[in-house]
Amino acid sequence: MTARDGAEGAGGGPAATHEEAPGPAADRPATKPTAASRTTLSHIMTASDTNLLGTVHGGVIMKLVDDAAGAVAGRHSGGPAVTASMDEMVFLEPVRVGDLVHVRAQVNWTGRSSMEVGVRVLAERWNESTPATQVGTAYLVFAAVDEHGRPRPVPQVVPETERDRRRYQEAQIRRTHRLARRRAIKELRERRIADGLDTDD
Ligand SMILES: CC(C)(COP(=O)(O)OP(=O)(O)OC[C@H]1O[C@@H](n2cnc3c(N)ncnc32)[C@H](O)[C@@H]1OP(=O)(O)O)[C@@H](O)C(=O)NCCC(=O)NCCS
Repeated sequence: MTARDGAEGAGGGPAATHEEAPGPAADRPATKPTAASRTTLSHIMTASDTNLLGTVHGGVIMKLVDDAAGAVAGRHSGGPAVTASMDEMVFLEPVRVGDLVHVRAQVNWTGRSSMEVGVRVLAERWNESTPATQVGTAYLVFAAVDEHGRPRPVPQVVPETERDRRRYQEAQIRRTHRLARRRAIKELRERRIADGLDTDD
């Protein structure tokens, strides 16, 4: 079951400053507010979702996270988008059979063709009126693609609330670290190959 969660964060306020220029303005579509694509996916956990310990399998939650984030990325970019990476999937509490799990996703940040989607996972007993607790978080990067699977430009996301602006700024930090980590590992591998150390694959 999916439900749009668009009312939250739809207030006014200045657009965030985009420190990284994502590409020439001419080849990019218009901007879109965060609230336009924010989505919640809800699912009741059953016995078929359990691991050997009897709690819900982490992979089941990760699938829901990827599904919700993919819906958000598709809605924001107005077309197909693929998962480029999933990082910082954190499981805070075990999820149990009979839990109603809500997976809340939104675009935190956009580049030229990529979008960071932030996800919060909440759980509540399906038949009790106790408040939901947060059981996990994740950050995924999606790339919008054209009919040939090539990256295509996305609208810049416009965070409109202080919370969304904070999430945008935090996403920029993660983006900087992802790029730096990839560059450092690539350089290490190239150095090892040049030194004749990695020749067995
Ligand atoms: C994701 C994919 C489209 C990237 O293609 P590519 O030829 O490497 O293109 P680029 O290098 O231009 O990357 C496109 C964007 O994705 C980002 N990106 C690519 N790989 C990434 C990664 N591992 N982590 C984070 N961002 C990544 C780039 O930074 C770039 O962002 P920007 O345009 O906003 O600057 C391609 O690798 C792919 O199709 N992967 C398979 C996706 C898939 O099948 N997912 C699972 C099923 S949906």
